[in-house]
Amino acid sequence: MRNAETKSVEDYKLILREFARDPFSVATVCPSSPFLARHLADSLALSEARVVVELGPGTGALTEAVLPRLRPGVRFLAVERNSALCAAWRKRYPQYDVVEGNVADLAEICRSQGIEAVDCVVSGLPWPSFDPGLQEAGLSGVHAVLRPGGQMASFGYHIGLLMPGSQRYYKLLNRYFDRVERLRWEWRNLPPAFVTRCTK
Ligand SMILES: C[S@@+](CC[C@H](N)C(=O)[O-])C[C@H]1O[C@@H](n2cnc3c(N)ncnc32)[C@H](O)[C@@H]1O
Repeated sequence: MRNAETKSVEDYKLILREFARDPFSVATVCPSSPFLARHLADSLALSEARVVVELGPGTGALTEAVLPRLRPGVRFLAVERNSALCAAWRKRYPQYDVVEGNVADLAEICRSQGIEAVDCVVSGLPWPSFDPGLQEAGLSGVHAVLRPGGQMASFGYHIGLLMPGSQRYYKLLNRYFDRVERLRWEWRNLPPAFVTRCTK
């Protein structure tokens, strides 16, 4: 049995290695902190959800805060594009489903998993580093699978706000969602980050 410290060192090594291989997709050199994960999980009504989807779970930093908030029997599905991260996540959470796939195909992935409507989407995706086509396809997929009133929470880094892709992303959020709220900053994360909650 691995202890928490070993687990965290392994996670750092894995994220760093995958970042070196694919910097735009992984977009971080370390997993999110437990503080950011808690903040993001608390921003969604997870305890009332019946179906929850996590996008870009990586090593499971957000998953760890999300799972304890779910009711027994909740349908939880993770979608991760990176093969190595997907395999590591599957090994850690064998009781949950993870699909190695792209958020651009989210509607199709949910259909193939028998999911009709999602209550909460937990996003660990680096939306600002996506090209315009992937931002649009990903957000339209999230919008399509969310039930009316369903919510997505995502995080952004303060340095990311300078990227042109960031402005494009926040404009798109306002087009797809009825309500977009930027919640408080979490400074205890590398780099500091804020959570955005969107309601369909
Ligand atoms: C910034 S890391 C976040 C990892 C983890 N959620 C965390 O908070 O530590 C971004 C994650 O999104 C995944 N990802 C990037 N593009 C993706 C896409 N188009 N579809 C699904 N996952 C993607 C990456 O492989 C990586 O695991």
